[in-house]
Amino acid sequence: MNNDIQIIHGGEQQLGHIVSVEQAAFETNEEAELTKNLLADPSATPILSLLAYKQDTPVGHVLFTHAELEGEHGLQISLLAPLAVVPAYQKQGCGSALVHRGLHLLEEQGIDIVFVLGDPRYYTRFGFEPAYRFGLSAPYHIADKHRDAWMLKSLRRGISGNFDSKVICAKSLYRAEYWCE
Ligand SMILES: CC(C)(COP(=O)(O)OP(=O)(O)OC[C@H]1O[C@@H](n2cnc3c(N)ncnc32)[C@H](O)[C@@H]1OP(=O)(O)O)[C@@H](O)C(=O)NCCC(=O)NCCS
Repeated sequence: MNNDIQIIHGGEQQLGHIVSVEQAAFETNEEAELTKNLLADPSATPILSLLAYKQDTPVGHVLFTHAELEGEHGLQISLLAPLAVVPAYQKQGCGSALVHRGLHLLEEQGIDIVFVLGDPRYYTRFGFEPAYRFGLSAPYHIADKHRDAWMLKSLRRGISGNFDSKVICAKSLYRAEYWCE
């Protein structure tokens, strides 16, 4: 982990910093808008919003929002999206530090499974694996050629088998354009 990076809980007071990080990382306003919507979305609660600083500069942000599984499974679920690091500060361990810290805090909070739609080459380094292996579908259909991009990480032992279920995400994330990897 990079010791120069300070990670804090980022909320309303840090919204300007969060938006600036999202805009710089994605070069569009889409993820910044999504993040603002999620931070104000009751169906996304509980939320874990972590903001990374290098000295006083906001350089990275990650959001984990509440999700559920269809049916009664008794599992606490969280969804990672988005993750953003300002281009000038990428490849210095900031993204990894945010993901590791988030997973650690979620584990402490009793979350059982964290989902993400992203690049498997990046997220497998944190122990994420394809969710289809557990029969757990994304809120929207993911094309077969991208099926490995819908991933989960179990934060507790003993999660195995075929759930034959689907993830229900926060309302703000229920838009098809967020699910075409
Ligand atoms: C993806 C992102 C968050 C990574 O942040 P970061 O701080 O650069 O990541 P780290 O420094 O912890 O890790 C860097 C490593 O990840 C690799 N990496 C970064 N993005 C990757 C990707 N999309 N696919 C595969 N590997 C990737 C880098 O090549 C580097 O590899 P190395 O350790 O072998 O040198 C950052 O590149 C970013 O904000 N990108 C634009 C927004 C985005 O795509 N977000 C992800 C949405 S799911």
